[in-house]
Amino acid sequence: MRLDRYVSQAAGVSRAAVRTLLRRGAVSIDGRVVKAADLHVPAGSRVELEGRPLALPGPRYFMLHKPLDVVCSTSDGGHVTVLGLLEEPRRELLHPVGRLDRDTTGLVLLTDDGAWSHGITAPRRHRDKVYRATLAEPLAPEAVARFAAGLMLNGEDRPTLPARLEILAPTEARVTLHEGRYHQVKRMFAALGNRVIALHREAIGGVVLDPALAPGEYRALRADEVEALR
Ligand code: URA
Repeated sequence: MRLDRYVSQAAGVSRAAVRTLLRRGAVSIDGRVVKAADLHVPAGSRVELEGRPLALPGPRYFMLHKPLDVVCSTSDGGHVTVLGLLEEPRRELLHPVGRLDRDTTGLVLLTDDGAWSHGITAPRRHRDKVYRATLAEPLAPEAVARFAAGLMLNGEDRPTLPARLEILAPTEARVTLHEGRYHQVKRMFAALGNRVIALHREAIGGVVLDPALAPGEYRALRADEVEALR
């Protein structure tokens, strides 16, 4: 990582402030004053600011119960964001792992560990995602076989991968996806002539939304949950 970014994150100051500190000779690496903002900080080196050791925050891992009308992006555009629900220092360093639609509720993971989130979202390392859907129309029993066979979504040229559909009640179902396409659950039900009226994500790669979390609440992931998704 570049030195200016390292100091900015570790000390919680802006990059402009870091440049001033560097010019003043306030930063040292392994005992030697350094002034070059673009210098690469070697792993394991001792970085000090005015003689005090600096350490990068994190990595941090959270699960959030996303409520309705909250967006999974880092900038607001007028809406409350998932980051805005976190009462954490330096929360701007965190990002949501993948996205849920504004009108979808449920499990969202947040982290500042880019390699970890990439391992979850990269298409070739897809983690199963489990959703609970409420439908406008009753489901026909053959919907299970249609999901298992793969469905052609509007505007696409290859069918979806086999997906698991469990019918829980006439208009209630659990869906397990092995891939992640844009608005996939809603579009799969649309391909059957039905419509999703509520959607909730229950789990990602075996990590289940904690039932103790009310909408809007979050908690740190346990070490076993972090490892299960690594
Ligand atoms: N599929 C959807 O249609 N919406 C989501 O938010 C997630 C999966």
